[in-house]
Amino acid sequence: MRQKLAAGNWKMNGTSAALAELEALAKAHPNPTSEILICPPATLISRAVDTLAHSPIQIGGQDCHAAQSGAFTGDTSAEMLRDAGANHVILGHSERREAHGERNEDVRDKARTAMATDLVTIICVGESLAQREAANTLDIIAGQLAGSVPDLATGENLVIAYEPIWAIGTGLTPDVAQVGEVHDFIRSLLERRFGAGVGRSVRLLYGGSVKPANAQEIFSVTNVDGALVGGASLAAKDFSPIIDALDAA
Ligand code: 13P
Repeated sequence: MRQKLAAGNWKMNGTSAALAELEALAKAHPNPTSEILICPPATLISRAVDTLAHSPIQIGGQDCHAAQSGAFTGDTSAEMLRDAGANHVILGHSERREAHGERNEDVRDKARTAMATDLVTIICVGESLAQREAANTLDIIAGQLAGSVPDLATGENLVIAYEPIWAIGTGLTPDVAQVGEVHDFIRSLLERRFGAGVGRSVRLLYGGSVKPANAQEIFSVTNVDGALVGGASLAAKDFSPIIDALDAA
């Protein structure tokens, strides 16, 4: 059985005041059946870890460098994330692939380092609207998976997030058949590459406009093991019902 995972990606949102949302979340979910993860901006990681010292809620980063140290102004290493108390990292988010020109091989190099640093690595994949309309979705996903996921992936150190770019921050979501098609496809590719044991143990998250109103339907889809939530993870009152829906799924 795969442990379900409700992950929040705060993106470039949140200052000290946002720690109150973590306190509220911890209070609302003292004994969740799902794993709960929040990936705040790097500046808040260590304070978020302190805030959640008595909570099972975990903290992750949103990116890391492929190198552990060096002359890389503005970057954060996997070791630094761990040192700050994070135990997960999101890699290859479409916003980084687009705005920072990250290619599959860059994501793979970062993932190698993150995994070697004992960070659970959430690798994001997903098609643009033009790619979906051209019926290229599965080819795009296959290419991103093959190129971004390193060979040392296991069910413990890898999570895949399927985030259709056109669904991120738009209020649009694929229908359940479309989500199911891609998640089943990702599962089959992982089984083929890593064998049935590892392939079946990697958790697959859906991301893109997950809200309290659509969470239950999304979590009913086979091979959806949780969600990577952006906007609705910023406030405990919105993220909390999504966690409840996952706990109940
Ligand atoms: P939204 O939930 O705001 O659409 O963002 C999804 C996302 O990009 C999570 O990584």
